[in-house]
Amino acid sequence: RIISCDGSFHGRSLTDLAAGSNEKHREGFGPMPEGFDHVPFDNLNAMRAAITDQTAAILVEPVQGEGGIKAPSPGFLKGVREMCDEFGILMVLDEVQTGNGRTGKLFAHEWAGVTPDILATAKGLGGGFPVGAVLATEAAAKAMTAGSHGSTFGGTPLAMSAVGAMLDVVLAPGFLPRVDKMARVLWDKLGAVVAKHPTVLTEVRGQGLMVGMRCAVENSILVGKMIDNGVLTVPAGDNVVRMLPPMILEESHIDEAVQALDKSCAEIAADMAKEKAG
Ligand SMILES: Cc1ncc(COP(=O)(O)O)c(C=O)c1O
Repeated sequence: RIISCDGSFHGRSLTDLAAGSNEKHREGFGPMPEGFDHVPFDNLNAMRAAITDQTAAILVEPVQGEGGIKAPSPGFLKGVREMCDEFGILMVLDEVQTGNGRTGKLFAHEWAGVTPDILATAKGLGGGFPVGAVLATEAAAKAMTAGSHGSTFGGTPLAMSAVGAMLDVVLAPGFLPRVDKMARVLWDKLGAVVAKHPTVLTEVRGQGLMVGMRCAVENSILVGKMIDNGVLTVPAGDNVVRMLPPMILEESHIDEAVQALDKSCAEIAADMAKEKAG
């Protein structure tokens, strides 16, 4: 069995739907594969209590994406690693959304100073080219003998060269530190907008350039206003609006987006005041 977390999203194949926790995504699909035990995210005690002699692995997102850009407490991933070592089970990280530089490190788990046994990566992996990969330690990969798994398009040279090109850019000296620096500039400026518009926004959260803003109004209202003001954002769970800007962004782009956010919040606040008045 595999332990996974409430609020998680791991994709839309049947097994991923079973691993994830969103009942709505499962509607109309089935039968669901068995074998997942869900526990609250960021709760090491609940995780420990769910481990049985049937448990093979723990699967987590280092920062929950679709669930609402939720970063766990600082010691969480380290605690998961220690628990996996203690019970002899595998630590599996879903870095599909957090990976490939998004948080300011190649993979988000590096911030926690841990190494997973298995890691899933995609999205930014091909810099726009559709490709995903599963990485595993030699010990964990032992079970994947030649021919035990395959895929029609797996390992295609075009996809592999796209990954190579992405890595050349992202791992070039100075690239990731710059992502981290730009993220801090963005966070500072977003924090000021949140403080200015408490009736619209309550919190900035996430890690690096994976940013969530929790809304006091329905998140779709802010997403709509942002489109009107020229910036594309994405809704996420827990009434969050996501910003996942390109990692090559300049400070002028940050200013543009923050201005659009400030304007959108002011417009929403004015609409609410008008509605209240009558
Ligand atoms: C953490 C995480 N895992 C998996 C997926 C699913 O990826 P795909 O749509 O390629 O199956 C996503 C997509 O949003 C994701 O955010």
